[in-house]
Amino acid sequence: MTLALGVLASGRGSNFQAILDAIHKGTLDAVVKVVLSNKSSALALERGRTHRIPSIFLDPKPFAESQDPRDAYDRAVGQVLHEHGVEAVVLAGYMRIVTPALVRQFPWKIFNIHPSILPSFPGLHAQRQALEWGAKVSGCSVHFVTEGVDEGPVIIQMTVPVLEDDTEESLSARILEQEHVAFPKALQWFAQGRLAREGRRVTVLPSRDREGEAPERTNIL
Ligand code: GRF
Repeated sequence: MTLALGVLASGRGSNFQAILDAIHKGTLDAVVKVVLSNKSSALALERGRTHRIPSIFLDPKPFAESQDPRDAYDRAVGQVLHEHGVEAVVLAGYMRIVTPALVRQFPWKIFNIHPSILPSFPGLHAQRQALEWGAKVSGCSVHFVTEGVDEGPVIIQMTVPVLEDDTEESLSARILEQEHVAFPKALQWFAQGRLAREGRRVTVLPSRDREGEAPERTNIL
C-alpha cells in the first residue's frame, strides 16, 4: 500500500526533493500529501508547489501567546497532517524540536535525517562539530523520532571520510549526497513494513517478493 507522507521542512528541501525523485523513479512507494514549513521563505515550499503538493506555511508567531507555544504549534501541525491523510511524517531539514504533542500523534511514524553518525554530534552544526572534534569519519543517520532530540533508534547510517582539507561546506556536501540515498531507502523499508524494532535495535526484514536475496545493508561504509 502506498505510504501517505507529510513532510516538515524549514530550508532548501534537498532531502524532500530526493524523496520526490525516488517516488517518481518508483523506488519509493509513497505519496507526499502535504509539505509544511515554519518558514515562509523555505525553498521546500516552492518545491512542493512545483509538484502541485499542498504546501503550507504555518507561522509560529500567533502561537507565542499560548500557555505552551511549542505544544500548541505542534498540535496545529498534527491537525494539518491528519487533515491531509498523512500516515507517516518526514523531518527533512526541519529546524524545530518536535514536542511530545506531535510525537505522540504519530508514534514510531516520524523519521529524521541527521548529518552525523549518531550518537556523535547531535544538535546543530553536526558537520562543524565533526571537523572541530577531529573525526576521521562522519556521515548521516536516519532514525525514528522519539521525545529526545536526535535520540531515536537508528534505521540506517552511511559514512563518508573526513578529509584533511575539508571545510564545513565540503564535508556537508559529501554527507548530503549520502543523505539523499539513505532517506528514501529507509522510508521504502518502512513503506514495505520491513522495519522491526526491539528496544533500540532496528532490523530490516527480508522483502517478501525477493526471497533468497542478501539482507539489506543498514551500515553503508
Ligand atoms: C540536512 O543536512 C539534514 O541532515 C539536516 O538538515 C539539512 C537539510 O537539508 N537535518 P535540506 O533542506 O534537505 O537540503
